[in-house]
Amino acid sequence: MLTTTKEILRKAQEGHYAVGAFNVENMEMVQAVLEAAEELRSPVIMQTTPSTVRYAGLDYYLANVRTAAEKTDIPVVMHLDHGNSFELAMQALRTGYTSIMIDGSHESFEDNMKVSKSVVEACHPSGIPVEAELGKVGGKEDDLDGGDNNPYTDPEEAKEFVKKTGVDSLAVGIGTAHGIYKGEPKLQFDILSEISKVVDIPLVLHGTSGVPDEAVKECIRRGICKVNYATDLRIAFTEGLENYLKKHPGTIDPKKYNAAGRAKVKEYVMEKIKVCGSEGKAS
Ligand code: 13P
Repeated sequence: MLTTTKEILRKAQEGHYAVGAFNVENMEMVQAVLEAAEELRSPVIMQTTPSTVRYAGLDYYLANVRTAAEKTDIPVVMHLDHGNSFELAMQALRTGYTSIMIDGSHESFEDNMKVSKSVVEACHPSGIPVEAELGKVGGKEDDLDGGDNNPYTDPEEAKEFVKKTGVDSLAVGIGTAHGIYKGEPKLQFDILSEISKVVDIPLVLHGTSGVPDEAVKECIRRGICKVNYATDLRIAFTEGLENYLKKHPGTIDPKKYNAAGRAKVKEYVMEKIKVCGSEGKAS
């Protein structure tokens, strides 16, 4: 059965580790993430963005992840990543997603609070937790370009935002960006610590592909409980597939090259679960 982020992130917060949230684009990526998490006995979050959802529909992705969850005894969550409207958040809720992000970070502070609060009010009666974002993660995030300038999350605003909206977890802007980094990202660890001091819900790190593992671990020590990886999974899948086709040109069976992509994604996810420190935390 699918679980929600509520329990697994609370445990992560208490235990000072994080749970990896991996963007899945197809069945093989779902299988890869599940195999990696099972082998390491780690709870795991699988998530899809609006553009992924547009490609095949919430129900197709949910069916894959739900099937994965039914095959295992480790906690598996199906999360909507960067929900960009109240309507999409409600569709995901009705479809059966067990965790919802509403991303109003591109709106004004007031409008972000308003939409986040309305999603919380709609999701909480069904026991579904809500992640929101305050401050911006730079780079290209799904369909939206966050730009190169990262306005960091203001700790005092974060405190007010959490109190007034009732969100269950908060994505923060501390210098990460989605996509591929041009240079090494400079993370604002002090801002993260300031936010942790005044906000008691689990904090979320976005744009983690390409962030050095040591920096991710430092973020976890300072209050990050959910770590999002997307771009690197796509790269891993594509590399696996390309390598296979280079070695076996003329292959026409998608099972063959997709399996090679799946193996690469599994390898990558196992590495990142260890970085998050959630190995062995499944029960
Ligand atoms: P990356 O693509 O940089 O890993 O970011 C993932 C993410 O934050 C998804 O919400």
